[in-house]
Amino acid sequence: MRFWKEKRLLLGISGGIAACKTPELIRLCREAGATVTVVVTEAALQFVTRTTLEALSGGPVHGDLFAPGGSMEHIHLGRETELVILAPATADLLARMAAGIGNDLLTTLLLAHQGPVLAAPAMNCRMWRHPATRRNVALLQGDGLHLVGPETGTLACGEEGEGRMAEPPAILEAGRRLLTPQILAGKHLLMTVGPTREALDPVRYLTNHSSGKMGMAIAAAALRAGARVSLVHGPTASSPPSGATAIPVTSAREMAAATLGLWPDCDAAILTAAVADYRPATSQAQKMKKDGSGAALTLELVENPDILATLSARRAAPPPPGSTPLPASPLLVGFAAETGSALDHGREKLRRKGCDLLVVNDVAEAGSGFGEETNRVSLLWRNGREEHWPLLTKAEVGERLVAQVAAALATTGAK
Ligand code: PMT
Repeated sequence: MRFWKEKRLLLGISGGIAACKTPELIRLCREAGATVTVVVTEAALQFVTRTTLEALSGGPVHGDLFAPGGSMEHIHLGRETELVILAPATADLLARMAAGIGNDLLTTLLLAHQGPVLAAPAMNCRMWRHPATRRNVALLQGDGLHLVGPETGTLACGEEGEGRMAEPPAILEAGRRLLTPQILAGKHLLMTVGPTREALDPVRYLTNHSSGKMGMAIAAAALRAGARVSLVHGPTASSPPSGATAIPVTSAREMAAATLGLWPDCDAAILTAAVADYRPATSQAQKMKKDGSGAALTLELVENPDILATLSARRAAPPPPGSTPLPASPLLVGFAAETGSALDHGREKLRRKGCDLLVVNDVAEAGSGFGEETNRVSLLWRNGREEHWPLLTKAEVGERLVAQVAAALATTGAK
């Protein structure tokens, strides 16, 4: 599934130093499959060349309201696009838009355009904080303008503050969120992601291979679909997607405490974490030393709380298997990492843990499970329905799963 394939974007570039990032933005958009039409203000060409923009966008760069043969361009260009991105959106461009001025091709086109517009403001921090800019931004947001950024950091002038243009991947992601149907709008999704670490001593711990990629992909898809996402995650190199409320934890007991605390407020919980089933009975305060005798070391392990089973037990008793509709909210989704007879183990685990849906991945299969970019999963529903998906990217699994969760929530009429 290539979201941007055949989507038509119009990139409006105004005159600020951040315009030098727009070639990268165009490259990303086109790589994702979108077509990009570039419209510049006169000042934009002080910062990025027409030749660069034409080479990367693969088309002419528009900028002249009165170009020979270009009559009605301000109407046609806006009509032929799904999303207008303004990057960078300077203080001057925002001011002209707020006042409804159309004194060049870009501002005239914006007056005529009826679809969504996403602006990535970029300017000096004092310009961004200036009452006139505050007023203009508030007015434009009231009119339906969407913003991404600006970020806080070092500015081109050397000052520190809010005013840096959002990075091109963040702009593209914000655009994608704008164009995604909001099937989870108003829903609160609780997730567990990644591994847990169980300390043996201050130096060593027990853990597993979970990279957090599967969970983060689901969280990203849910955010795009309009959900509020609380993400309780173990130590992982994967970053939570922007917009999620991330709650970093280390051990299974910390993950359990954070998850149980958030559970009463959520509409659905998707537990993708590879939680350590056991922890050392005691964690040494000092580093354990070997005595050099060659004798075996025996570790005593005790069972960790089972978060999924605990949440399941806290819900009202669900209806028996085979009945419809699905149990009342919160909807509870578990994951199972299995090896060998994965589906049989999964069916047994679904019964034992009492969730509504168990997503089974055979982690012994090539390209599936821990650390991979792809996954092959089977969905086992409490009511007996089963789906077996082909090998997909984790991003695709996330999107499909979010669609299933949204449909199930719509059926149950969850809060
Ligand atoms: O993170 P990646 O590298 O992208 O890999 C993804 C994944 C393989 C980790 C993921 O797709 C996955 O399968 N996660 C669940 C792994 C697992 O621990 O399965 P399990 O069979 O041990 O647990 C079953 C369910 O109970 C899971 O939802 C788990 O979060 C939950 N559980 C388990 C133990 C425990 N103490 N508490 C729990 O809540």
